Amino acid sequence: MRKKIVAGNWKMNTTPAEGLELVKNVMAQSAEVCECVNFIVCPPFTHLSQVAEAAKGSRVAVGAQNCAAEAKGAYTGEVSAAMIASLGVEYVILGHSERREYYGETSETLNKKMAQAYANGLKPIYCVGERLEEREAERHFEVVKAQIEEDVFNLTEEQFADLVIAYEPVWAIGTGKTATAEQAEEIHAYIRTVLAEKFGEAAASTPILYGGSCKPSNAQEIFAKENVDGGLIGGAALKAEDFVAIGKGF
Ligand code: 13P
Repeated sequence: MRKKIVAGNWKMNTTPAEGLELVKNVMAQSAEVCECVNFIVCPPFTHLSQVAEAAKGSRVAVGAQNCAAEAKGAYTGEVSAAMIASLGVEYVILGHSERREYYGETSETLNKKMAQAYANGLKPIYCVGERLEEREAERHFEVVKAQIEEDVFNLTEEQFADLVIAYEPVWAIGTGKTATAEQAEEIHAYIRTVLAEKFGEAAASTPILYGGSCKPSNAQEIFAKENVDGGLIGGAALKAEDFVAIGKGF
């Protein structure tokens, strides 16, 4: 049985007060959802500490949206994996398309970030996904395969056991345009095959989340697919009712 996960990527949204209220509402409302669903919230760094403190001991786990590629030192504006882990945070999103596109994150940088995450006990939620022009050119399989080969194939078996993958087609992020359940299943199954080539049986246990305009109205259909183990949610994670309702989609 694979873990079922609904993770909220708050991106650059919410003040500390708003974030605290949001996590509290998620904690309260998630009581209505099957215990089998694992909720994760990923607030901005400014309130990671407060949100982690508020969620301590609850069913809601906390993740960061990024971490530094280096361990410590003269890297103005960066936040290390050790700092994040010290707050009781369990996950870190790495390789999000917004980081790849707007901040020039390459597979080389991501290799270092993955290593930092693991060295400090954080579980990466590693994002992959193709751009619109790559999908139109039917290159999505090769793009996603390369992203996995570059940053996942170098993991040890032990590290791989803690990995979560998020497939997020760039054309579906924040656009209101969702991949169909069939499109999601097709590529999720492919991702699992690629992982199995390297890690064998262990790939059967890797949670693969779908991300991109996922909302209460489409979650159920997408999550019903065999290789979709949940979602990485952007916009709809900012309203506790919607985020929790997505968790009812299993
Ligand atoms: P939206 O759900 O807003 O499309 O964002 C998806 C995403 O990028 C989550 O990481």
